[in-house]
Amino acid sequence: MTDRSTLVGRACIVGGGVIGAGWAARFLLHGWDVVVVDPHPDAIERIEYVIDNARIAAPALADMPMPPEGTVTYCDSLAGAVISADWIQESVPEELALKHKVLADIEAAAPDSCIIASSTSGFKPSELQEGAKNPERILVAHPFNPVYLLPLVEVVPGTAAGGETKDKACNVLASIGMRPLVIRKEIDAHIADRLMESVWREALWLVNDDIATTEEIDDAIRHGFGLRWAQMGLFETFRLAGGEGGMAHFIRQFGPALQWPWSKLTDVPELTDELVQKIADQSDAQSGGYSIRQLERIRDRNLVGILRSLKERDWGAGAILNEHDRRLAVPESGDPAIENSQPLRMLELSVLPAWIDYNGHMTEFRYVQVFSDTCDKLLVMIGMDADYVANVGAWYTIETYATYIDEVGVNEPIYSTIQILLSDTKRLQVFYCLHAAEDDRILATAEALYLHVNRKSGRVCDASPEMVAKAKTIADAHENLPRPEAAGRYVGQR
Ligand SMILES: NC(=O)c1ccc[n+]([C@@H]2O[C@H](COP(=O)([O-])OP(=O)(O)OC[C@H]3O[C@@H](n4cnc5c(N)ncnc54)[C@H](O)[C@@H]3O)[C@@H](O)[C@H]2O)c1
Repeated sequence: MTDRSTLVGRACIVGGGVIGAGWAARFLLHGWDVVVVDPHPDAIERIEYVIDNARIAAPALADMPMPPEGTVTYCDSLAGAVISADWIQESVPEELALKHKVLADIEAAAPDSCIIASSTSGFKPSELQEGAKNPERILVAHPFNPVYLLPLVEVVPGTAAGGETKDKACNVLASIGMRPLVIRKEIDAHIADRLMESVWREALWLVNDDIATTEEIDDAIRHGFGLRWAQMGLFETFRLAGGEGGMAHFIRQFGPALQWPWSKLTDVPELTDELVQKIADQSDAQSGGYSIRQLERIRDRNLVGILRSLKERDWGAGAILNEHDRRLAVPESGDPAIENSQPLRMLELSVLPAWIDYNGHMTEFRYVQVFSDTCDKLLVMIGMDADYVANVGAWYTIETYATYIDEVGVNEPIYSTIQILLSDTKRLQVFYCLHAAEDDRILATAEALYLHVNRKSGRVCDASPEMVAKAKTIADAHENLPRPEAAGRYVGQR
């Protein structure tokens, strides 16, 4: 495995169905070279389709450039595919005998150093490790569909896989944007599927007993507690349901109901042909208007929306995405050299997929964001940090006038410049340009005026002498630059 800002290497995906294809996409989009083994005649077409979906959805979650995509190849021979792998992800159907056979074949050809992870939903790692030559490098890495969007992966080392394997696995999984949840004690179906199964069992009873249709059950989840679960889970949600009395009050109030009980516990309705048909018919009535492919795209768009909103609040799965952005962050280049002959060249970026509008170009507010980030960089250069803001003041934006000159597409490199037009103890007036890096053409300009404000009093005040001096050094260097043509313009003036 080579070291870049994130770990990258060569991943071998054995079994390219719903889950294997999702793994292939996640590794690929994080710069790994991926080789897939799946004997199904339609495997390549199905995997490419999932990768296409992932290329649309996954980068829309990132606010940092994703690493350059790796390559994907398809291999008929398992031995040939695993031979130089750093990570092997077994994702064949959920049958223990098949998994044992595939794991034995993998072990026979794979390098000793690689991790062998299984996507199994139900088997314990000790069951998978039975009869293995090197059981300590086999563990469970159980993901959630769609693997390229959902961060959670349950990591179950079992009894044989040592701490070193577990730690190495967690590092790799975190480096591809996942949240590895280590399961401390192996158990059938790990954590999440046990929870989901209990809800599913109850839902089957509700349909069987004609209490509710599949659609009504889904509405009960998605219009209510499902929204709470997505951001706070079960216990944190119940803590709030206890009001000021918190969790202890909640348990005292609702705990006795567990003894009645409302649910059917482990009873399951018999899955007769009649019940299966009833559920399938209700599901057709509920969702048959959409194809599976349409529903997958709808699901992905919804998930991106939910995840981005959690990201803004740095909460739950959104906090994991922010952590991943920090991992992907390209180290900031230092302060630009102050020269008399030109504006300061400030930010070097590329247009992220999440910045694109329905026309396929960078959307309006992202131009303003780049100017705002450029200003932040200037303010840091002249000495504004958290202490300064708390004790002295901050620069408040009073006016901005922007012109949008040219379009720019996804992944195109861009850079911003800043020219100080005026600087004194209380005022800072600047002119920004956004350029395409390829040919330096101007994409947008903006002129802005900032006032220095004491945050406690809310009143304009002098910046510190040190800050004024630093700003003046740049302003002096810019004094003889030609005044930008668009400076001083007003709306409608061209
Ligand atoms: N579907 C889910 O939501 C989900 C979620 C998490 C984990 N899992 C687990 O992931 C694993 C795969 O599930 P899935 O839903 O992707 O199944 P799937 O049926 O969609 O895909 C399995 C793939 O394995 C291929 N395959 C069969 N034998 C093979 C072999 N010997 N070598 C290589 N490929 C082979 C099949 O052709 C198929 O494409 C299971 O262990 C399952 O429990 C599934």
